[in-house]
Amino acid sequence: MATHFGRLMSSSPSLGSQLRQIAESLAREAGDMALSGRKSGPLTATTKSSPIDMVTKFDKASEAMITEGLAQVRPDDAIIGEEGAAKQGTSGITWHIDPIDGTTNFYFDLPMWAVSIGAVDEHGPLAGAVYVPALGEMFSAARTEGATVNGMPIRVRDNNDVADALVCTGYSYRISEREVHAKRVADIVMKVRDIRRFGAAAVDLCFVACGRLDAYFEEHLHSWDLVAGQVIATEAGAIFSDYVGNPVTPAQVLAATPGVHADLIHLIATSGPGAS
Ligand code: IPD
Ligand code: CA
Ligand code: CA
Repeated sequence: MATHFGRLMSSSPSLGSQLRQIAESLAREAGDMALSGRKSGPLTATTKSSPIDMVTKFDKASEAMITEGLAQVRPDDAIIGEEGAAKQGTSGITWHIDPIDGTTNFYFDLPMWAVSIGAVDEHGPLAGAVYVPALGEMFSAARTEGATVNGMPIRVRDNNDVADALVCTGYSYRISEREVHAKRVADIVMKVRDIRRFGAAAVDLCFVACGRLDAYFEEHLHSWDLVAGQVIATEAGAIFSDYVGNPVTPAQVLAATPGVHADLIHLIATSGPGAS
């Protein structure tokens, strides 16, 4: 009886696995809607936090689709979404939604944009999906259960040499912060293989996860940029911290394959204005 019960228990999916499935399904639905909308004609955009921070009707439609889906299957969960979704919950799970991460790319019809949906519990990121419609790639993970792209397991790149590292970054929409970061990047680009700026934080994190990049660093993100990509890249073996090695927050993110993480902390500390 105990054995039978044990078998029954082990065959039911964990909460993380259930939330991962929900995130995948909603990200796919919203992302496919946005992609077909994008392909149907020219777009208009308005601006938000700065003249270069854009939003389109598809950012809003994607968020509405995701929050309506969550209301049906997870009515007791809290929600934080970039385009204004804000709901209190009672279950202890909070969803962090970026309905289109990489809106500038979406607007310019560049392929690097994604729908990013992550769930957090009292221990941190629990499950998430990042769907990149124009690439046909669904990245997902649940804590302790591994990360995949289109169902195939993914792993960070095996690299111990920071001079060989392909490093990605991003720039805040605020001009004063761009100036500081640009000077930092100008120093770092001399000491690594090369720098990339793709324009979608969630995609950057997934590319670290699957070994297309060795590392990614950026400041002034929001939880919706980070949560899903964090669980995916962590499950794929990436190390996360802030720029000095403390626990990561959206304010300062360094994600790297383990062999170059410490060297990148050193490079960041010795780069840009006010470097030691
Ligand atoms: C932005 C993208 C970009 C990053 C910015 C984010 P959005 O998100 O992820 O790559 O550099 O910091 O705000 O506005 O396109 O959702
Ligand atoms: Ca974003
Ligand atoms: Ca967004």
